[in-house]
Amino acid sequence: MCGIIGYCGPRAAREVLLEGLKRLEYRGYDSAGICVGANRALTVIKRTGKIADLREIVPTGLAGNWGIGHTRWATHGEVTDVNAHPHTNCAGDIALVHNGIIENFAALKEKLVHDGHVFRSETDSEVIAHLVSDFYEGDLEAAVKETLQLLKGTYGLICVHASEPDRLVGARNGSPLVLGVGGDEMFLASDVMAILSHTKQVVYLEDGEVVRVQRDSYHASDLRDRRIDKKVETISWELDTIEKQGHPHYMEKEIFEQPDSVLRAMQGRIDHENLTAHLGGLNMTESELLGIERVKIIAAGTSFHAGLVGSYLMESIARIPCGAELASELRYRNPVVERNSLYFAVSQSGETIDTLSAMRELKRKGAKVLGVCNVVGSTIARESGAGVYIHSGPEIAVASTKAFTSQLTVFYLFTLLLARMHNMSFEGGKEFVDGLAALPDLIRGGFEEQNHIRALAEKYSRYRDFLFLGRGLNYPVALEGALKLKEISYIHAEGYSAAEIKHGPIALINEETPSIFLVPNDRLREKVISNMKEVKARKGKVIALCASGDEEVRDTADDVITVPRAGEIWYPFLMVVPLQLFAYYTALKLGRNVDQPRNLAKSVTVE
Ligand code: M6R
Repeated sequence: MCGIIGYCGPRAAREVLLEGLKRLEYRGYDSAGICVGANRALTVIKRTGKIADLREIVPTGLAGNWGIGHTRWATHGEVTDVNAHPHTNCAGDIALVHNGIIENFAALKEKLVHDGHVFRSETDSEVIAHLVSDFYEGDLEAAVKETLQLLKGTYGLICVHASEPDRLVGARNGSPLVLGVGGDEMFLASDVMAILSHTKQVVYLEDGEVVRVQRDSYHASDLRDRRIDKKVETISWELDTIEKQGHPHYMEKEIFEQPDSVLRAMQGRIDHENLTAHLGGLNMTESELLGIERVKIIAAGTSFHAGLVGSYLMESIARIPCGAELASELRYRNPVVERNSLYFAVSQSGETIDTLSAMRELKRKGAKVLGVCNVVGSTIARESGAGVYIHSGPEIAVASTKAFTSQLTVFYLFTLLLARMHNMSFEGGKEFVDGLAALPDLIRGGFEEQNHIRALAEKYSRYRDFLFLGRGLNYPVALEGALKLKEISYIHAEGYSAAEIKHGPIALINEETPSIFLVPNDRLREKVISNMKEVKARKGKVIALCASGDEEVRDTADDVITVPRAGEIWYPFLMVVPLQLFAYYTALKLGRNVDQPRNLAKSVTVE
């Protein structure tokens, strides 16, 4: 979603801001802008389109060593130049960038207009700039604090005033904001990607905190002016992990990283002596773990699909009742929190508002909620207080790929841990651990089908509707395959349990609606083959993903993609990779913007 950056230091702000915005592109946006301060004046330049378009209209010689920038993902008001941020007050001496939604903006705006303020945009954010100017009496930080008391909603914001050079005022409530501490320069940003090339020293702001930043110092406080001592933390990600490293797209890079990212998710977490998993971040004693009577996983999108696989696995292998639910649904249905339940809030970004809000509600009800996040220091990771990092490394493509398989890895490890405490024998533990260890090579083996998958994607790219069908552990993978295809190729795709087609979707089958079947050699294989035949009997095209050497599936399907043969619980890892590639190559063939598909944001921080 929207991204923000602020800078003050010795360098030309223009370059730092434009580079920072470029790094935030992955979050998804439709317009962008910067404001640079110099000689007690502010220059605001903004427009719809890409950062490259913005760069074209920013004069190369734009002087000024401090400023703010923004990528906008429209919520209030259309995608227009005027609605892009930064926004200014009437006099143009205050500028602001804002992420989040001001829920009471209409009432505030009405009063401001009545008092003579002239609004230029349709955004909710602009009210903040006008309010700050009403409260301003020579102290920007004080005026921002007065303003914040009137706002209802969420914000991560940075404000500047022409008469206070080299100064940024940032504030956070519900939208992330991080301070980057350089040698003789400071940064503010909505996420660390924007500043990683400059500094790895960061301070994460919490809700309700305001920070005043100058090039050599910062001061954090709450709305009642009480000083807050903040801890400086070091980001572990390396700069090269956020580069494409020779791949044409981040998505391709991230798909092919999966043997390594899955390995990272399990590294140091397997206890080979006791044939169990060791997940220190859970912060739970053995007796607490033994006391777990049910597990619930909450998440959105791809993370939800990973949670579904996790819940099926945990229940069948560790024999603990387990379910996964969309966080957006759970949060508004007044859920019952049962004693001895354990919740996982799963989120690659750790910032998804639905998951975060559901987690907060569960915690209010006394639930124990653990985070399963990728981004270290993200809000869900910090607020959950305990959990497991998936260690995928930065995932930049909007379409989530490697996070999915790393999330699975964490759930497989947790399943091993619980199962070994309950019903899994030492030999069973050995088999499971061996299965985990074999995964990276098996995933790598699946890449051998890369060219064939590309050819199939090109062959089928003219179709407008697809069904993705799987069963058991591979039913959520079918959902994930459909999500991948629709989000980056804009082709309509539905994921279903193969068993469900008779209950409705089979009505869609004809020559123009291909079905992609997941048919591993598991206990439901025969049933899925029957479903394939039902589709074939209705002239539907069938592409089947099956274990190598499965001639019966090959004979039934129109086209086949094989995956390495494995024990049945490992197929979700092996089936999802070809589906990611299929979506990727289809989108390429159709000329889509693979890494930044239309209307989508990497991190969904508004409801
Ligand atoms: O960061 P999160 O894992 O919480 O994100 C959840 C979804 O927004 C995300 O998985 C989304 O569905 C992706 N675009 C899927 O590729």
